[in-house]
Amino acid sequence: MHLDLFAPINLGGLTLANRMVMAPMTRNRADTDGCVPPLMVEHYRQRATAGLIVAESTTVSPQAVGYPFTPGLHTAAQAESWRRLTDAVHEEGGRIFVQLQHCGRVSHPSLLDGQAPVAPSALAPAGQAVTHTGPQDFMTPRALDAGELPDVVDQFRRAAELAKQGGFDGIEVHAGNGYLIDQFLRDGTNHRTDAYGGSAANRMRLVNEVLDAVCEQWPAERVGVRLTPENGFNSMADSDPQGHFEYFLGQLSPRGLAYVHVLEGGMATTAVSLDYRALRSGSPARTSPTTATTSPEPERWCTRGMPTWSPSVRRSSPTRTLSAATARTSRSPQPTPPRTTAAGRPAIRTTRSTGPTEARHASSSEAADRCGPAGYGEPAPERLRQRYVIAIVSGPDEQCSPYTECSAGQLNCSLTN
Ligand SMILES: Cc1cc2nc3c(=O)[nH]c(=O)nc-3n(C[C@H](O)[C@H](O)[C@H](O)COP(=O)(O)O)c2cc1C
Repeated sequence: MHLDLFAPINLGGLTLANRMVMAPMTRNRADTDGCVPPLMVEHYRQRATAGLIVAESTTVSPQAVGYPFTPGLHTAAQAESWRRLTDAVHEEGGRIFVQLQHCGRVSHPSLLDGQAPVAPSALAPAGQAVTHTGPQDFMTPRALDAGELPDVVDQFRRAAELAKQGGFDGIEVHAGNGYLIDQFLRDGTNHRTDAYGGSAANRMRLVNEVLDAVCEQWPAERVGVRLTPENGFNSMADSDPQGHFEYFLGQLSPRGLAYVHVLEGGMATTAVSLDYRALRSGSPARTSPTTATTSPEPERWCTRGMPTWSPSVRRSSPTRTLSAATARTSRSPQPTPPRTTAAGRPAIRTTRSTGPTEARHASSSEAADRCGPAGYGEPAPERLRQRYVIAIVSGPDEQCSPYTECSAGQLNCSLTN
């Protein structure tokens, strides 16, 4: 069966120009107020030929921050700064959702005005937080009291509202990668004995409340949710990921969300042990497309492929030479020593990847850029092929392999499954 990557598809009443979706990817380029600077505007403008961009994790409150220089959506100034970016993407014919995030225990008091990070249970992740003064050991988080959870839900509600002011086309709730909502979902990190812990239904309560809240601001068909059932990143674990996530997806299905964005496997490994076909059978089924299009409504995303170097995804230019402007926001080919603080300690860890054509064009100023993927670690070498597609949107009648990838050489082809 052929899936034409370049065929338009309808997503919640939006026509996406193609089936390629750029993954949310933290760049640590926001200013200290969590506002979007011109460099971010340019970065996303250059990538607007993807059918849809899911913008990087964006914090829903000061309590939600877990990394330096990440953008936010909890002040009017932040929303205003996002507006310049979304305008730029729209000018290029692109569409953009924003990923709303609360980092929970994956944080550090130095990022939280001295407050302890919060979590479902007082369990620290292994490893170190990325802070403004370099890596620092994670501390044991403070377990959230049930009475505080309505405020957490409200943080997402307000951010969803500000996302409209910021000019986004929709939102994605980040319920994966070991951040707060994932910490509630998985029983390795949720040891609560109240209504938010114990059974799968209880562990799902927070994400359900968040989705209810954001769907007061947005139609469900403009709301996505990200799940990462077996991602061990941030010390995550679960006693029965297959069973639990089948349950979660079954419960999400009637909501009629735009999509469920599932990371198959983990971020640090290509190994996959869950049966994603079985999981997908529980993903949201849309019975009535909202607008007439040539393509059926998308109901599942297959995600592999990291768009570290995002392309111009036009059918006519499967291989391309980067413009100078693109090169400035692409990645450097060489590992760069971490910048050091005045005290000589490593500052934000800067991960560099090797290989892609684009890398050869990266300017030397890039090496000094603070845009390293803080906290995400060194990508494994086998994952550094030039990959352009993070997600391929398929409709209910189309098959999409969990491992479908699209390399530069394939970009002018239909994809065969
Ligand atoms: C530098 C970097 C930043 C990332 N930032 C985010 C993020 O903000 N939100 C998110 O959900 N995933 C984030 N991810 C995960 C990616 O979206 C993707 O799921 C991950 O790289 C696994 O895909 P891959 O195996 O194809 O690379 C990030 C990954 C990297 C390497």
